Amino acid sequence: PVKDVRTSSGKTFAEEMDLRTFDISAMSDGPMLSESLKEGTKKSHKEAENVSFVRNFLKGKITRENYAILTGNLYHVYTTLESSQDKHGAKVLGEMYIPKKLNRASRLLDDWRYLTQQSTSFPDPSPATKDYISRLNDISDNDPKCLIAHAYTRYMGDLSGGQILARCARKALNLPDTGEGGRFYEFPEIKEGGKKFKDKYRDMLDRVHPSGAERDRIVGEANVAFVLNMRLFEELDVLSGVQGASVRPFADALKWSKTWKEP
Ligand code: HEM
Repeated sequence: PVKDVRTSSGKTFAEEMDLRTFDISAMSDGPMLSESLKEGTKKSHKEAENVSFVRNFLKGKITRENYAILTGNLYHVYTTLESSQDKHGAKVLGEMYIPKKLNRASRLLDDWRYLTQQSTSFPDPSPATKDYISRLNDISDNDPKCLIAHAYTRYMGDLSGGQILARCARKALNLPDTGEGGRFYEFPEIKEGGKKFKDKYRDMLDRVHPSGAERDRIVGEANVAFVLNMRLFEELDVLSGVQGASVRPFADALKWSKTWKEP
């Protein structure tokens, strides 16, 4: 195979390629943002997967009531995220501003209304949801480039693990084949399919080219976003009476904000 062919330096072609990739990124402005985000949130991702609510969800143990509460809370989270993105637009977010393909708020409202059978009402945000909203507003006002971190955490999650959770929800809650109650997980505007789009999304992240300090804030903020999501799940654990459950303090999430190094 080509990768085993040795070059004039005596290294295999594959080794040479790795070296080049490494050298190029070292000479420019650090590793690619998509890599920094993936690596820098690995631990938070693992921790999020391990919250009881998420573990139970994966096993199909989810009640319609709790799922409706989560949907209602996420409606508020996405409404705030998406209106902040609209406010700053491509001027700040560049090609990461992709509302037509990604926006979820109206889908979440449709799901919530279907699940609760309250066709004209709006959900109330929970306390952890209010904290999440206040963080998004804070970022929108003071460091809007970091909205990229919030978008990454939610949309890439929705296109990845979210698609697994979609199947669990549809089965556990017996959602109809017509799609009602599960519109949140559908991305009809992503015509190329989720996998291809995620690759494109990573390429777009890699063209952001943040400065070193900006990169630290973006990856730090993605970790804040992960913890804010964990708090939504923890709230549901407390509500369901899961033994030993508690919602970690808001301040724990904010500790991540300036750096992606573990606080
Ligand atoms: C990526 C599974 C929960 C955010 C992924 C991937 C898998 C996965 C398999 C890799 C997909 C790929 O590389 O194409 C799961 C499972 C979960 C879960 C099974 C829970 C049951 C979450 C949560 C969040 C989240 C709660 C955040 C709110 C992300 C993000 C990525 C991702 C941002 C993209 C990583 C990257 O490639 O940069 N997830 N996930 N996930 N997930 Fe999750």
